[in-house]
Amino acid sequence: MLRAPAHLVIRNNTLINNILNSQKIKMSHHKSSRRIEGLDKNVWVEFTQLAADYSAVNLGQGFPDFSPPNFVKEAYTKAINGGLNQYTRAFGHPPLVKILAKFFGKLMSQDIDPFNEVLVTIGAYEALFCFFQAMVDDGDEVIIIEPYFDCYEPMVRMAGGQPVFISLRPKPVFGRLMTSADWVLDPVELANKFNKRTKAIVINTPNNPLGKVLKCEELQVIAELCVKHNALCISDEVYEWLVYDANEHKRIASMPGMWERTVTVGSAGKTFSATGWKQAVAEGFEKEFELLGAPESYFISLRKELQLKRDRLAACLASVGLKPIIPEGGYFLMADISEVNVDLPECTKTEQPYDHRFVKWLTINKGLATIPVSAFYSTDSKKGFQNFIRFCFVKEDATLSKAEDILQEWSRTRKIQ
Ligand SMILES: Cc1ncc(COP(=O)(O)O)c(C=O)c1O
Repeated sequence: MLRAPAHLVIRNNTLINNILNSQKIKMSHHKSSRRIEGLDKNVWVEFTQLAADYSAVNLGQGFPDFSPPNFVKEAYTKAINGGLNQYTRAFGHPPLVKILAKFFGKLMSQDIDPFNEVLVTIGAYEALFCFFQAMVDDGDEVIIIEPYFDCYEPMVRMAGGQPVFISLRPKPVFGRLMTSADWVLDPVELANKFNKRTKAIVINTPNNPLGKVLKCEELQVIAELCVKHNALCISDEVYEWLVYDANEHKRIASMPGMWERTVTVGSAGKTFSATGWKQAVAEGFEKEFELLGAPESYFISLRKELQLKRDRLAACLASVGLKPIIPEGGYFLMADISEVNVDLPECTKTEQPYDHRFVKWLTINKGLATIPVSAFYSTDSKKGFQNFIRFCFVKEDATLSKAEDILQEWSRTRKIQ
């Protein structure tokens, strides 16, 4: 199944979270397997609980707090009431794999076989897990670009692989706000990460947490190295529809030599602001197929709506001294906190990185939940990236207003002190 050319995989599960947290569950005093040693910590569990404990305005975890579009909700109700409540084909509900093959075949100018080249999983999480388990052997190296969605590293390790990290580095900018495009890979450094043990590279565009959208030239460099070293590429494109300004989402699977070595991962949950609705998702894609590129398309209207939310949050952060890095895509925004002087109280002075302590303080004392960005870096790189926090802006305007009130009030009290 995973040996066929490119695959489109769909979303939504907490499978890995559950596995990783199973160490906490004492199974009749049996020790959990060595495979998950050291993988019991998870930024989402810790900071989501903290946000709930302090009833904070939650701009932390990446989920919309608004409803999915009506046409998908209607398709969902129709599916349930129409009796589509039992098992379907294990690799993907036939109407869903057919429309995915048709839809992405058009976008990638490829003939996609719905029954051999499309796999539907419970979430992008599970798709990533399946890829690493199916393709990575003991000792294989997998290149991961930092900052990265935090599950890549434990998933590679669980499969017996060795993660090899390379960081996107910010170029200095003067007289304007930084954008995610200012964070770049050094092509020579990247080339040096590839060797005969390299099995795969993981890319994520638009990136979580930075919002960087990889340009054609950047993808070209990656593609050429994959071809040269016969490496696979797993391309996590769950935010593919959320690309702002004049930026365009490019698919590495469409580049020369890449179709047969790329697994493309999508997410219905991110795409339709809903989770796990197989029939509804199939109908959603059917409708969007007709509207592709038209202003009435949900993918276009959602993008417009989110770009306004991005700009609104960025302006507020800039006005209170938290320097935003304007994301080109996705629904997260990183802000630089190095110029905000906060006297973190004793209780947060632990061994934890500064951004973890800052986020805890902000949640507990100000009631605003965010996510520390060093969680998206490997152990060795964390120290160099402790001055960023991640805000999620896929939220109701009312939620953003509450966050703005908190930030402005905090800024006023800082000025008075
Ligand atoms: C980059 C990235 N990949 C994958 C996922 C997981 O997606 P899903 O909810 O479909 O499992 C997320 C979720 O936040 C993500 O940010």
